[in-house]
Amino acid sequence: MTKIHAARSAETKAIQEMLTASGYSDTAINYYIDKPYMGHIPDADITSEMTGTCGDTMGIYIKMNNGVVGEAKYQVMGCAGAISAAMAVVDLIKGKSLEFARTIDDGTVFKVLEEIPVKKHHCIQLAVKTLHKALDAHFLKKSA
Ligand code: FES
Repeated sequence: MTKIHAARSAETKAIQEMLTASGYSDTAINYYIDKPYMGHIPDADITSEMTGTCGDTMGIYIKMNNGVVGEAKYQVMGCAGAISAAMAVVDLIKGKSLEFARTIDDGTVFKVLEEIPVKKHHCIQLAVKTLHKALDAHFLKKSA
């Protein structure tokens, strides 16, 4: 193990311990540390951006494939709760129809995350609202 790698592992372990002590489940912590769907899709079919009352901002990018969500990413400028919630939303909608994606609510995401601090529940709302804003705009455009 190189010095840099060892320092990174120690840092990750410290973050894990802090988040566990704050009330995050291992699932939520892993989403936050791995950030599997963090980023931007330049040729996304469906997008939206939203800023929460806390000032944190996120954007969602969805690329369709044969009528289902092929790829999705979130760009999150926000807290650990916001990042883990956004990553969980992507796992819920990947490979699913947009109609299904529309049924996702805060409770659905909370079930995936298992546990996050009560003070961070509004971060789930921000991830879900960003998704719904994108879907509403998409369906409105289609019906026009
Ligand atoms: Fe703003 Fe978490 S504190 S989304």
